[in-house]
Amino acid sequence: MSTAKDLIASLERLGDEFLAVIQPLADEPGIRAAQAGFLGKKGKLSEVMKELGRLPAGDRPLVGAAANKVKQAIEDRVAARLGELADAVGKLDLARTIDVTLPARPIAAGHLHLLTQVRLEAIQIFSELGFVVEDGPQIETDWHTFEALAIPKEHPARDMQDTFYVSEDIVLRTHTSPVQVRTMLTQTPPIRIVAPGHVYRRDDDPTHSPMFTQLEGLAVDEGLSFADLKGVLLHFVKRFFARDLGIRLRPSYFPFVEPGAEVDMQCSFCMGSGCRVCKGTGWVEIGGAGMVDPEVFGHVKIDAEKYTGFAFGMGLERMAMLRHGVNDIKFYYEGDLRFLEQF
Ligand code: FA5
Repeated sequence: MSTAKDLIASLERLGDEFLAVIQPLADEPGIRAAQAGFLGKKGKLSEVMKELGRLPAGDRPLVGAAANKVKQAIEDRVAARLGELADAVGKLDLARTIDVTLPARPIAAGHLHLLTQVRLEAIQIFSELGFVVEDGPQIETDWHTFEALAIPKEHPARDMQDTFYVSEDIVLRTHTSPVQVRTMLTQTPPIRIVAPGHVYRRDDDPTHSPMFTQLEGLAVDEGLSFADLKGVLLHFVKRFFARDLGIRLRPSYFPFVEPGAEVDMQCSFCMGSGCRVCKGTGWVEIGGAGMVDPEVFGHVKIDAEKYTGFAFGMGLERMAMLRHGVNDIKFYYEGDLRFLEQF
Protein backbone atom coordinates (compact mmCIF):
# COMPACT_ATOMS: atom_id res chain seq x y z
CA MET A 1 0.00 0.00 0.00
CA SER A 2 1.30 3.51 -0.88
CA THR A 3 2.27 5.85 1.86
CA ALA A 4 1.88 9.62 1.83
CA LYS A 5 5.53 9.87 0.96
CA ASP A 6 5.08 7.54 -2.05
CA LEU A 7 2.15 9.56 -3.31
CA ILE A 8 3.99 12.87 -2.95
CA ALA A 9 6.94 11.35 -4.83
CA SER A 10 4.59 10.17 -7.63
CA LEU A 11 3.02 13.61 -7.86
CA GLU A 12 6.40 15.29 -8.14
CA ARG A 13 7.42 12.82 -10.84
CA LEU A 14 4.30 13.72 -12.77
CA GLY A 15 5.26 17.37 -12.50
CA ASP A 16 8.68 16.62 -14.01
CA GLU A 17 7.16 14.36 -16.66
CA PHE A 18 4.84 17.16 -17.74
CA LEU A 19 7.76 19.54 -18.17
CA ALA A 20 9.37 17.03 -20.52
CA VAL A 21 6.12 16.46 -22.43
CA ILE A 22 5.34 20.14 -23.01
CA GLN A 23 8.85 21.16 -24.01
CA PRO A 24 8.70 20.17 -27.70
CA LEU A 25 5.06 21.23 -28.21
CA ALA A 26 4.70 24.32 -30.36
CA ASP A 27 0.97 24.81 -30.87
CA GLU A 28 -1.87 25.68 -28.53
CA PRO A 29 -4.15 22.69 -29.25
CA GLY A 30 -1.23 20.29 -28.58
CA ILE A 31 -0.38 22.04 -25.31
CA ARG A 32 -4.01 22.05 -24.17
CA ALA A 33 -4.32 18.32 -24.97
CA ALA A 34 -1.19 17.57 -22.90
CA GLN A 35 -2.57 19.67 -20.04
CA ALA A 36 -5.85 17.70 -20.14
CA GLY A 37 -3.83 14.42 -20.08
CA PHE A 38 -2.37 15.43 -16.74
CA LEU A 39 -5.01 17.63 -15.06
CA GLY A 40 -8.23 16.44 -16.70
CA LYS A 41 -10.86 14.30 -14.95
CA LYS A 42 -9.26 11.10 -16.23
CA GLY A 43 -5.78 12.62 -16.23
CA LYS A 44 -2.66 11.22 -14.63
CA LEU A 45 -2.94 13.40 -11.52
CA SER A 46 -6.48 12.14 -10.80
CA GLU A 47 -5.20 8.55 -11.10
CA VAL A 48 -2.64 9.15 -8.35
CA MET A 49 -5.14 11.01 -6.17
CA LYS A 50 -7.46 7.99 -6.19
CA GLU A 51 -5.08 6.53 -3.60
CA LEU A 52 -5.70 9.47 -1.23
CA GLY A 53 -8.73 7.85 0.43
CA ARG A 54 -6.65 4.96 1.65
CA LEU A 55 -4.27 7.18 3.64
CA PRO A 56 -4.73 7.93 7.32
CA ALA A 57 -6.77 11.13 7.61
CA GLY A 58 -3.88 13.01 9.16
CA ASP A 59 -1.66 12.45 6.09
CA ARG A 60 -4.18 13.57 3.51
CA PRO A 61 -3.68 17.37 3.82
CA LEU A 62 0.02 16.94 3.14
CA VAL A 63 -0.62 15.00 -0.08
CA GLY A 64 -3.39 17.43 -1.05
CA ALA A 65 -1.03 20.35 -0.67
CA ALA A 66 1.59 18.58 -2.79
CA ALA A 67 -1.04 17.85 -5.48
CA ASN A 68 -2.06 21.53 -5.57
CA LYS A 69 1.54 22.57 -5.91
CA VAL A 70 2.12 20.24 -8.88
CA LYS A 71 -1.16 21.35 -10.45
CA GLN A 72 -0.17 24.98 -10.09
CA ALA A 73 3.26 24.28 -11.57
CA ILE A 74 1.68 22.59 -14.59
CA GLU A 75 -0.72 25.48 -15.13
CA ASP A 76 2.08 28.01 -14.78
CA ARG A 77 4.13 26.11 -17.32
CA VAL A 78 1.22 25.99 -19.77
CA ALA A 79 0.68 29.75 -19.44
CA ALA A 80 4.41 30.43 -19.86
CA ARG A 81 4.70 28.18 -22.91
CA LEU A 82 1.67 29.77 -24.60
CA GLY A 83 3.16 33.19 -23.84
CA GLU A 84 6.45 32.14 -25.46
CA LEU A 85 4.62 30.98 -28.56
CA ALA A 86 2.66 34.25 -28.85
CA ASP A 87 5.91 36.20 -28.46
CA ALA A 88 7.52 34.17 -31.22
CA VAL A 89 4.63 34.91 -33.58
CA GLY A 90 4.86 38.61 -32.71
CA LYS A 91 8.62 38.66 -33.34
CA LEU A 92 8.16 36.94 -36.68
CA ASP A 93 5.57 39.57 -37.59
CA LEU A 94 7.92 42.38 -36.61
CA ALA A 95 10.75 40.82 -38.55
CA ARG A 96 8.71 40.96 -41.77
CA THR A 97 9.99 43.58 -44.14
CA ILE A 98 7.65 45.42 -46.49
CA ASP A 99 8.94 47.11 -49.59
CA VAL A 100 7.09 50.40 -49.46
CA THR A 101 8.60 51.42 -52.78
CA LEU A 102 6.68 48.73 -54.71
CA PRO A 103 4.23 50.31 -57.17
CA ALA A 104 0.63 50.14 -55.93
CA ARG A 105 -1.79 47.65 -57.44
CA PRO A 106 -3.98 49.53 -59.92
CA ILE A 107 -7.56 50.13 -58.79
CA ALA A 108 -10.01 48.90 -61.41
CA ALA A 109 -12.07 51.98 -62.22
CA GLY A 110 -15.51 51.49 -63.73
CA HIS A 111 -17.08 53.65 -66.40
CA LEU A 112 -20.53 54.66 -67.55
CA HIS A 113 -22.70 51.98 -69.18
CA LEU A 114 -22.98 52.29 -72.96
CA LEU A 115 -26.68 53.20 -72.72
CA THR A 116 -25.89 55.93 -70.18
CA GLN A 117 -23.17 57.30 -72.44
CA VAL A 118 -25.59 57.33 -75.36
CA ARG A 119 -28.32 59.00 -73.30
CA LEU A 120 -25.97 61.73 -72.03
CA GLU A 121 -24.65 62.32 -75.53
CA ALA A 122 -28.15 62.61 -76.97
CA ILE A 123 -29.12 65.08 -74.23
CA GLN A 124 -25.98 67.09 -74.97
CA ILE A 125 -26.76 67.30 -78.69
CA PHE A 126 -30.38 68.35 -78.10
CA SER A 127 -29.43 70.79 -75.36
CA GLU A 128 -27.23 72.60 -77.87
CA LEU A 129 -30.44 73.16 -79.85
CA GLY A 130 -32.18 74.60 -76.78
CA PHE A 131 -34.00 71.48 -75.53
CA VAL A 132 -34.13 70.89 -71.76
CA VAL A 133 -34.61 67.55 -70.01
CA GLU A 134 -37.99 66.58 -68.56
CA ASP A 135 -38.90 63.47 -66.60
CA GLY A 136 -42.06 61.49 -65.89
CA PRO A 137 -43.13 58.40 -63.95
CA GLN A 138 -42.57 54.92 -65.36
CA ILE A 139 -45.75 53.72 -63.65
CA GLU A 140 -48.16 55.97 -65.44
CA THR A 141 -51.89 56.53 -65.77
CA ASP A 142 -53.73 55.11 -68.74
CA TRP A 143 -54.93 58.68 -69.42
CA HIS A 144 -51.42 60.19 -69.80
CA THR A 145 -50.13 57.16 -71.74
CA PHE A 146 -53.03 56.74 -74.16
CA GLU A 147 -56.20 58.81 -73.73
CA ALA A 148 -54.58 62.26 -73.79
CA LEU A 149 -52.56 61.13 -76.80
CA ALA A 150 -55.74 60.47 -78.77
CA ILE A 151 -55.65 56.71 -78.19
CA PRO A 152 -58.96 55.99 -76.40
CA LYS A 153 -59.79 52.58 -74.94
CA GLU A 154 -60.68 50.03 -77.64
CA HIS A 155 -58.73 52.09 -80.24
CA PRO A 156 -56.86 49.70 -82.57
CA ALA A 157 -53.67 51.77 -82.10
CA ARG A 158 -53.40 50.29 -78.61
CA ASP A 159 -52.43 47.01 -80.27
CA MET A 160 -49.20 48.61 -81.54
CA GLN A 161 -47.89 48.65 -77.96
CA ASP A 162 -48.46 45.43 -76.02
CA THR A 163 -48.97 46.89 -72.56
CA PHE A 164 -48.30 45.74 -69.00
CA TYR A 165 -51.32 46.85 -66.97
CA VAL A 166 -50.89 47.45 -63.23
CA SER A 167 -54.65 48.01 -62.91
CA GLU A 168 -57.37 49.12 -65.29
CA ASP A 169 -56.19 52.75 -65.12
CA ILE A 170 -52.48 52.34 -64.36
CA VAL A 171 -49.87 50.97 -66.79
CA LEU A 172 -46.12 50.61 -67.13
CA ARG A 173 -45.63 53.35 -69.71
CA THR A 174 -45.12 51.90 -73.18
CA HIS A 175 -43.41 55.00 -74.53
CA THR A 176 -42.04 58.30 -73.25
CA SER A 177 -44.81 60.24 -75.01
CA PRO A 178 -46.82 60.75 -71.74
CA VAL A 179 -44.06 63.17 -70.72
CA GLN A 180 -45.27 65.34 -73.63
CA VAL A 181 -48.67 65.48 -71.95
CA ARG A 182 -47.28 66.20 -68.48
CA THR A 183 -45.09 68.98 -69.88
CA MET A 184 -47.85 70.66 -71.88
CA LEU A 185 -50.17 70.53 -68.85
CA THR A 186 -47.67 72.41 -66.67
CA GLN A 187 -45.77 74.66 -69.07
CA THR A 188 -46.76 77.27 -71.59
CA PRO A 189 -45.17 77.59 -75.04
CA PRO A 190 -42.48 78.04 -76.18
CA ILE A 191 -41.66 74.48 -75.10
CA ARG A 192 -38.60 72.53 -76.11
CA ILE A 193 -37.96 69.35 -74.13
CA VAL A 194 -36.37 65.93 -74.42
CA ALA A 195 -37.44 63.13 -72.08
CA PRO A 196 -35.20 60.06 -71.90
CA GLY A 197 -36.33 57.11 -69.80
CA HIS A 198 -37.30 53.50 -69.40
CA VAL A 199 -40.44 52.15 -71.05
CA TYR A 200 -42.04 48.69 -71.04
CA ARG A 201 -43.73 46.45 -73.57
CA ARG A 202 -44.49 42.77 -73.86
CA ASP A 203 -41.76 42.30 -76.48
CA ASP A 204 -38.84 39.88 -76.48
CA ASP A 205 -36.45 39.09 -79.34
CA PRO A 206 -32.87 40.01 -80.33
CA THR A 207 -33.86 43.62 -81.16
CA HIS A 208 -36.78 44.05 -78.73
CA SER A 209 -36.68 43.93 -74.96
CA PRO A 210 -39.56 44.07 -72.41
CA MET A 211 -37.79 47.07 -70.85
CA PHE A 212 -35.96 49.54 -73.03
CA THR A 213 -35.08 53.21 -73.26
CA GLN A 214 -36.68 55.87 -75.39
CA LEU A 215 -35.87 59.50 -75.88
CA GLU A 216 -38.86 61.71 -76.51
CA GLY A 217 -38.64 65.16 -78.03
CA LEU A 218 -41.28 67.89 -78.09
CA ALA A 219 -41.27 71.45 -79.36
CA VAL A 220 -44.30 73.75 -79.25
CA ASP A 221 -44.16 77.31 -80.48
CA GLU A 222 -45.71 79.69 -82.97
CA GLY A 223 -44.88 78.83 -86.56
CA LEU A 224 -43.12 75.48 -86.11
CA SER A 225 -43.30 73.31 -89.21
CA PHE A 226 -42.44 69.87 -90.46
CA ALA A 227 -39.22 71.35 -91.87
CA ASP A 228 -38.13 72.23 -88.30
CA LEU A 229 -38.75 68.63 -87.23
CA LYS A 230 -36.75 67.30 -90.13
CA GLY A 231 -33.90 69.74 -89.49
CA VAL A 232 -33.64 68.79 -85.82
CA LEU A 233 -33.62 65.03 -86.57
CA LEU A 234 -31.10 65.39 -89.38
CA HIS A 235 -28.80 67.43 -87.16
CA PHE A 236 -29.08 64.84 -84.41
CA VAL A 237 -28.27 61.87 -86.65
CA LYS A 238 -25.24 63.62 -88.16
CA ARG A 239 -23.89 64.62 -84.76
CA PHE A 240 -24.62 61.33 -83.03
CA PHE A 241 -23.03 59.19 -85.75
CA ALA A 242 -20.39 61.80 -86.59
CA ARG A 243 -21.04 61.07 -90.27
CA ASP A 244 -22.85 62.69 -93.12
CA LEU A 245 -25.87 60.38 -93.00
CA GLY A 246 -29.25 61.24 -94.48
CA ILE A 247 -32.68 60.67 -93.00
CA ARG A 248 -36.06 60.03 -94.58
CA LEU A 249 -39.52 60.43 -93.10
CA ARG A 250 -41.87 57.67 -94.17
CA PRO A 251 -45.60 58.40 -93.78
CA SER A 252 -46.92 56.46 -90.82
CA TYR A 253 -49.66 56.54 -88.25
CA PHE A 254 -49.39 57.56 -84.61
CA PRO A 255 -52.73 58.91 -83.31
CA PHE A 256 -51.09 61.82 -81.46
CA VAL A 257 -49.35 63.35 -84.50
CA GLU A 258 -50.66 64.52 -87.86
CA PRO A 259 -48.92 64.07 -90.20
CA GLY A 260 -46.95 61.23 -88.66
CA ALA A 261 -43.83 59.48 -89.90
CA GLU A 262 -41.38 56.70 -89.21
CA VAL A 263 -37.89 58.14 -89.08
CA ASP A 264 -35.33 56.18 -91.07
CA MET A 265 -31.66 57.00 -91.31
CA GLN A 266 -29.15 55.90 -93.87
CA CYS A 267 -27.56 52.67 -92.68
CA SER A 268 -24.39 53.55 -90.77
CA PHE A 269 -22.80 50.19 -91.65
CA CYS A 270 -22.99 50.34 -95.45
CA MET A 271 -23.63 54.10 -95.80
CA GLY A 272 -26.79 53.27 -97.72
CA SER A 273 -25.57 50.75 -100.27
CA GLY A 274 -27.41 47.83 -98.61
CA CYS A 275 -26.16 45.22 -96.13
CA ARG A 276 -27.31 42.61 -93.61
CA VAL A 277 -28.06 45.23 -90.92
CA CYS A 278 -30.43 47.23 -93.13
CA LYS A 279 -31.69 44.06 -94.84
CA GLY A 280 -30.39 45.34 -98.16
CA THR A 281 -32.54 48.50 -98.14
CA GLY A 282 -29.86 51.04 -97.16
CA TRP A 283 -32.17 52.47 -94.47
CA VAL A 284 -32.84 51.65 -90.82
CA GLU A 285 -35.72 52.81 -88.69
CA ILE A 286 -34.83 54.74 -85.55
CA GLY A 287 -38.15 56.08 -84.28
CA GLY A 288 -41.42 57.82 -84.87
CA ALA A 289 -42.20 61.51 -85.30
CA GLY A 290 -44.76 64.04 -86.51
CA MET A 291 -46.63 67.29 -85.88
CA VAL A 292 -48.60 67.39 -82.62
CA ASP A 293 -52.25 66.56 -83.37
CA PRO A 294 -54.67 69.42 -82.50
CA GLU A 295 -56.72 66.88 -80.50
CA VAL A 296 -53.74 66.49 -78.12
CA PHE A 297 -53.51 70.28 -77.75
CA GLY A 298 -57.20 70.16 -76.81
CA HIS A 299 -56.52 67.69 -73.96
CA VAL A 300 -53.76 69.90 -72.53
CA LYS A 301 -55.51 73.25 -73.17
CA ILE A 302 -53.03 74.70 -75.63
CA ASP A 303 -54.47 76.93 -78.34
CA ALA A 304 -54.12 74.95 -81.58
CA GLU A 305 -54.95 78.03 -83.63
CA LYS A 306 -51.93 79.87 -82.24
CA TYR A 307 -49.37 77.14 -81.74
CA THR A 308 -47.97 74.21 -83.67
CA GLY A 309 -45.59 71.57 -82.39
CA PHE A 310 -43.51 68.62 -83.44
CA ALA A 311 -42.62 65.50 -81.51
CA PHE A 312 -40.38 62.50 -81.96
CA GLY A 313 -39.47 59.36 -80.04
CA MET A 314 -36.60 56.98 -80.62
CA GLY A 315 -35.14 53.87 -79.05
CA LEU A 316 -31.74 54.48 -77.48
CA GLU A 317 -30.80 50.78 -77.53
CA ARG A 318 -31.35 50.90 -81.28
CA MET A 319 -29.15 53.98 -81.66
CA ALA A 320 -26.33 52.35 -79.69
CA MET A 321 -26.76 49.10 -81.67
CA LEU A 322 -26.40 50.96 -84.94
CA ARG A 323 -23.40 52.96 -83.84
CA HIS A 324 -21.50 50.15 -82.13
CA GLY A 325 -22.63 47.02 -84.00
CA VAL A 326 -24.34 45.42 -80.98
CA ASN A 327 -26.32 42.50 -82.39
CA ASP A 328 -28.41 41.43 -79.38
CA ILE A 329 -30.28 43.84 -77.13
CA LYS A 330 -29.77 41.54 -74.12
CA PHE A 331 -26.06 42.37 -73.98
CA TYR A 332 -26.97 45.78 -72.52
CA TYR A 333 -28.65 44.31 -69.46
CA GLU A 334 -26.66 41.16 -68.65
CA GLY A 335 -23.84 42.99 -66.85
CA ASP A 336 -21.14 40.89 -68.58
CA LEU A 337 -17.88 42.84 -68.29
CA ARG A 338 -16.53 41.31 -71.52
CA PHE A 339 -19.26 43.29 -73.31
CA LEU A 340 -19.34 46.39 -71.11
CA GLU A 341 -15.59 46.96 -71.14
CA GLN A 342 -15.58 47.41 -74.91
CA PHE A 343 -17.30 50.79 -74.66
C1 FA5 B 1 -43.43 55.17 -80.23
O1 FA5 B 1 -43.21 54.62 -79.13
C2 FA5 B 1 -43.93 56.58 -80.30
N1 FA5 B 1 -44.27 57.06 -78.99
C3 FA5 B 1 -42.89 57.45 -80.97
C4 FA5 B 1 -43.36 58.80 -81.32
C5 FA5 B 1 -43.11 59.87 -80.49
C6 FA5 B 1 -44.08 59.01 -82.51
C7 FA5 B 1 -43.56 61.14 -80.81
C8 FA5 B 1 -44.52 60.28 -82.84
C9 FA5 B 1 -44.27 61.32 -82.02
P1 FA5 B 1 -42.61 53.14 -81.65
O2 FA5 B 1 -43.53 52.16 -81.02
O3 FA5 B 1 -42.34 52.98 -83.08
O4 FA5 B 1 -43.15 54.62 -81.44
O5 FA5 B 1 -41.21 53.08 -80.84
C10 FA5 B 1 -40.19 53.99 -81.12
C11 FA5 B 1 -38.84 53.29 -81.17
O6 FA5 B 1 -38.64 52.57 -79.95
C12 FA5 B 1 -38.71 52.23 -82.24
O7 FA5 B 1 -38.36 52.79 -83.46
C13 FA5 B 1 -37.59 51.36 -81.69
O8 FA5 B 1 -36.33 51.98 -81.95
C14 FA5 B 1 -37.83 51.44 -80.22
N2 FA5 B 1 -38.50 50.23 -79.69
C15 FA5 B 1 -39.81 49.91 -79.76
N3 FA5 B 1 -40.07 48.76 -79.12
C16 FA5 B 1 -38.89 48.32 -78.63
C17 FA5 B 1 -38.48 47.21 -77.83
N4 FA5 B 1 -39.33 46.31 -77.38
N5 FA5 B 1 -37.17 47.10 -77.50
C18 FA5 B 1 -36.28 48.03 -77.92
N6 FA5 B 1 -36.60 49.12 -78.64
C19 FA5 B 1 -37.88 49.27 -79.00
